[in-house]
Amino acid sequence: MKLIKAVDYTDMSNLACDLIVQKLKDLAEPVLGLATGSTPEGLYECLIKKNKQGEITFENTTSFNLDEYIGLADDNPNSYHYFMNEKLFDHVNIAKERAHVPSGVAKDFTEECEQYEKMITEAGGIDVQLLGLGVNGHIGFNEPGTSFSSRTHVVELDESTRNANAHFFASGWEVPSQAISMGIETIMESKEIILLASGEKKAEAIARLLNGEVSEAFPASVLHNHANVTIIADEAARSKLK
Ligand code: GLP
Repeated sequence: MKLIKAVDYTDMSNLACDLIVQKLKDLAEPVLGLATGSTPEGLYECLIKKNKQGEITFENTTSFNLDEYIGLADDNPNSYHYFMNEKLFDHVNIAKERAHVPSGVAKDFTEECEQYEKMITEAGGIDVQLLGLGVNGHIGFNEPGTSFSSRTHVVELDESTRNANAHFFASGWEVPSQAISMGIETIMESKEIILLASGEKKAEAIARLLNGEVSEAFPASVLHNHANVTIIADEAARSKLK
């Protein structure tokens, strides 16, 4: 696992942006794995800027997001579909039909999960998967205890995750109790993985990820078993490292 030491949030975002820009330039048909949350927002702003300046194109890019809340329709402002449109897709030249986010309102979730896996396979697999880090070590919405051999599945969200994400929700809305998420094995099949972490509130999780043992009790620890992982963490997120 490679650790890139960023100074602060802006530096982390720019360093991640450089890596993604290079990928988009190197690959004829890039397949990106994308994440939601506040962590990648700065990276997405940077990618929008580079796309508008003509330095990169998303013309031949396919993307797969990690997860979505169950029960939220694509046009619900609290959904990850909406988040991705607002933070990235609406502002770059990506073909919307190739910008995939699992559905939170599928009629049959078993089928939706199988279909999502099939689409990833048919696209040739994910070239680079972006990850944030849950305070409890979750990746995507794979909560502690999730099997390392899980594929795209329906998950019950931990109370801590629902509390951590409540600030994204408009008043009157509760964080759903379930989500659909790429599985840990699905994530691990990506050719390359970039995990971003910023701020003091991620310091415990970063310390456990880098200094702790590999265990299903801490989902992100599985990344030790992958050959090409880069962690970009800022000073505050590294503050509890030994
Ligand atoms: C959510 C997402 C994760 C994300 C995590 C961290 O739970 N499902 O993919 O990494 O939150 O969020 P933030 O970046 O806001 O700290």
